[in-house]
Amino acid sequence: MSMSKQEALHEVANRIANCQKCKFSPDQNPVPGEGNPDAEIMFIGEAPGAKENETGRPFVGAAGKFLSEMLNSIGLEREDVFIANALKYQPPENRDPLPEEIEYQKPFLLKQIAIIKPKLICFLGRHALKAVLPQITEPISKLHGQLLSIENQAYLPLYHPAAALYNGSMRQTLLNDFAKIPEIMDRIG
Ligand code: URA
Repeated sequence: MSMSKQEALHEVANRIANCQKCKFSPDQNPVPGEGNPDAEIMFIGEAPGAKENETGRPFVGAAGKFLSEMLNSIGLEREDVFIANALKYQPPENRDPLPEEIEYQKPFLLKQIAIIKPKLICFLGRHALKAVLPQITEPISKLHGQLLSIENQAYLPLYHPAAALYNGSMRQTLLNDFAKIPEIMDRIG
């Protein structure tokens, strides 16, 4: 009998937890991602921060609170979607992920996408976009809020909630882009 999505996601989470080369220090907690295995929408962030490393859960700090608010603003709860990151461990001093780190951990993210099969993948920031669609070279400032359809998969690039949190105009842009999601879901069926 084939594995359920939940079981398959657990298996990926176990592989992440056992990936010594993925860790930046031996005592780090893995942050594989969480949410509804049958989610129609998947959100992909950059990498865990301090709070995420502490708890093993994605987007539970200030950026995560804003993400939850934005989900609520379109009638969704965190439990309705799946939330993951390009990197599964917190980089030292919260520095940007290096291209080789993204590349090394990418199979975990691609496997999660393949299991969940979301109708829409929302990138939270340029690192998530770059991880999944390295062929896209336009900056997120150009692409945000615009639906991309590549090989039968719908993608929506968005600003990162941490970048937008304390920047009034970027915050409003992110809220406006989020507001497009219900209509996009109707459109892509
Ligand atoms: N920022 C991210 O990109 N991911 C998290 O999980 C938290 C903050």
